[in-house]
Amino acid sequence: MYVGVDYYPEHWPVERWETDAALMQKAGFNVVRMAEFAWVNLEPEEGTFEFGWLDRILSILVKRGIRAILGTPTAVMPAWVARKYPETLAEEKTGQRTVWGVRKNNCFTSGTYRLLSERITRAMAEHFAHTPNVIGWQTDNEFGGPFCFCDSCRADFQDWLKRKYRTLDALNKALGTHFWGHLYKDWAEIQLPVDDKSHNPSLCLDHRRYHSWLNVRFQRDQVRILRRLCPKQFVTHNFMGFAMDVIYFDLAEDLDHVSWDNYPVWGVPTIPIGASAQADLMRGLKKKNFWIMEQTAGPGGWSTFGRNPRPGEIRKVSYQQMAHGSDAQIWFRWRSCTAGREQYWHGLLGHDGRPLRRYREAARYASELHKLEKELQGTTVKADVAIVFDYDSFWAFQIQPSYELRNNYIQAIHRFYDALFRAGVGADFVKTTDDLSKYRVVLAPHLYVLPDAVARNLNDYVAKGGILVTDCRTGVKTETSLCHDRTLPGLLSKMLGITIEEYEQVPADAPYAVVGRKDIDGQFTAFRYADWLTPKGAEALAGYTAWHMKDFAAATRHAFGKGLGYYVGTILKEDGFYDTLMADVLGRAKVRPALAPPEGVEVSVRQGEGRKLLFLINHTEEVKTVAVPRGKRELLSGKITGPALELGRYDVAVLRLR
Ligand code: GLA
Ligand code: ZN
Repeated sequence: MYVGVDYYPEHWPVERWETDAALMQKAGFNVVRMAEFAWVNLEPEEGTFEFGWLDRILSILVKRGIRAILGTPTAVMPAWVARKYPETLAEEKTGQRTVWGVRKNNCFTSGTYRLLSERITRAMAEHFAHTPNVIGWQTDNEFGGPFCFCDSCRADFQDWLKRKYRTLDALNKALGTHFWGHLYKDWAEIQLPVDDKSHNPSLCLDHRRYHSWLNVRFQRDQVRILRRLCPKQFVTHNFMGFAMDVIYFDLAEDLDHVSWDNYPVWGVPTIPIGASAQADLMRGLKKKNFWIMEQTAGPGGWSTFGRNPRPGEIRKVSYQQMAHGSDAQIWFRWRSCTAGREQYWHGLLGHDGRPLRRYREAARYASELHKLEKELQGTTVKADVAIVFDYDSFWAFQIQPSYELRNNYIQAIHRFYDALFRAGVGADFVKTTDDLSKYRVVLAPHLYVLPDAVARNLNDYVAKGGILVTDCRTGVKTETSLCHDRTLPGLLSKMLGITIEEYEQVPADAPYAVVGRKDIDGQFTAFRYADWLTPKGAEALAGYTAWHMKDFAAATRHAFGKGLGYYVGTILKEDGFYDTLMADVLGRAKVRPALAPPEGVEVSVRQGEGRKLLFLINHTEEVKTVAVPRGKRELLSGKITGPALELGRYDVAVLRLR
């Protein structure tokens, strides 16, 4: 298993390299990632390559037992590329070329840029294919932007649409261009939409998909070369969790494993549930363990910077990822750079290059990892609960949020995910089209875009005995973001035993009171949005009290085939609602946590090869006492458990249950 840092030898005098390598070795590090921004150092002028400096540092590292992942350096084009081939720079919405000087500023349809990218990739692949300590490649860096509005991208978008719809007539129907007289008579009339809030929402959604596909294609061009020339080295990419510019399921397809960049230390110390959820998505992309390619090592920022990780925090956020399936831990970055935009993005070492507290904490983690390595081998997270994660629904919401709340898709996921987290139950993230049958519970919040095939997948799942939970705005849109013309929730109506004839945004200052009616106790507040939900065979678990809402349910449960379909027709302010609802769901599904954690303690299980490891992470600054199974070995201390275990501030325990 690998542990190490993102290293930029090109930022430091050659005389320092030995010292860095020695300090890394002393910390127990065995891997670095390098070169992802070093295109100009590798190809200082067109067609002239200089790999000597990278060979040199690699040979210094190999003597210290340190391996390397090399980045294809296409996230920053050299200044000579921009000057010689200005068409490689992305165009803004206004038609202006991006001013060179930041990064991620290339146009992905520029034939020149694609050629230059292939050339540097091939040259590096040929040169480093047999370097003994080069173990793998990272494509580019954090695929996502930029959205380019140049003529070439527009023509390419038109081609993409042509391949998708084949005839203009089909496109006009699919995108609903009869509205506002937007009918196309020629493919060349189609524009790149520049404003999600006023252009045709169907065209906007296809534009997002197209942009995602462009990134995937660009990566694929590189992967093809790496596969051919470097069959022994792996290929990965550094993803960004819930960043939503690229359909990550597609980007992951061409890779050996997913890696991701996790920066959970910001603002007031809180429980970083987001980092757990994103880790679960990263694991879900290829249904296998992943790597951390970058992780908080100190205060971060491009102008102002955030707080310093408190003692113990660097270690515990690393364990949090391990607990969710991370098999490698790489900190961003080794040493804080004295130059450039990221001077204040602090590394394990400060500007002074001295190995101090943050370095020592990372070293402690490294030594513990080497101790745990054998036990972790072959283990991963196995969940009984799946969460359907859908880029189309996210984008369609961004384009038309329905009710006021930024980023409401991710928040919708979190309302349910957080309830699971508090209950100590793990989850997988899956695609809408995945086989769901191995899960006892499937959560599909805000599944706004619902093609008929997906609706059938959900109905089948429930008919065969699955338990599905979904909520408002599910099933509103077709694949091309038209509104379905069926009474909501459309094809899910029979399975959920409900109909929704009317709905509304709930004004911020006039929320509805909700009361539990069956299996849900208590009073809650419905805000932001409400379906006027009529049970048609379903049981009302909660309802409204307002005079005009009394006949409508707020949440329902319906037996369908061998399974159950739950629907929540509003958004509840209180976490307690989701906790109670999920308790009912998990109870009926017979899904139990490995143990019920006290507040602020995270529970996660990795298992495989006859072993079952229970991770306990105290995310708080108080000592927590956790009731644990007796007689199990705690792998970090080597001690055998009694009935309870004390976890200090930010401390971690790993129990071998089996
Ligand atoms: C991202 C990038 C890194 C670095 C950090 C900090 O994760 O991949 O190169 O820029 O952010 O800004
Ligand atoms: Zn372009």
